[in-house]
Amino acid sequence: MADFRKVAAVADIPVGTMKSVEVAHERILVCHTETGFFAVADECSHDSAPMGNGHLHRNEVTCPRHGARFDITSGAVLGPPAVVPIDTFEVKVEGEDIFILVED
Ligand code: FES
Repeated sequence: MADFRKVAAVADIPVGTMKSVEVAHERILVCHTETGFFAVADECSHDSAPMGNGHLHRNEVTCPRHGARFDITSGAVLGPPAVVPIDTFEVKVEGEDIFILVED
């Protein structure tokens, strides 16, 4: 069953930054852009690198290991060497808290 789980406070992730969280046995990267919060799998589809230490620019995250780029709104690949999209997760903000929809 899918359920929204609290993963962080809004104040933890200023605009232009991202934070890696672990919830329901998944490592998820929560990104805060000018247009809101987005969540993607924190595991690069190229060689499984965590991307929390990568670079976030607008809606694009760059993997720190070999430089693959992904659209955090869709998970789509924007630049090589990755060819497979990454998972995305639904996000909601209630008050000061950020929630992500995950499977139990
Ligand atoms: S592991 Fe991310 S680009 Fe290779």
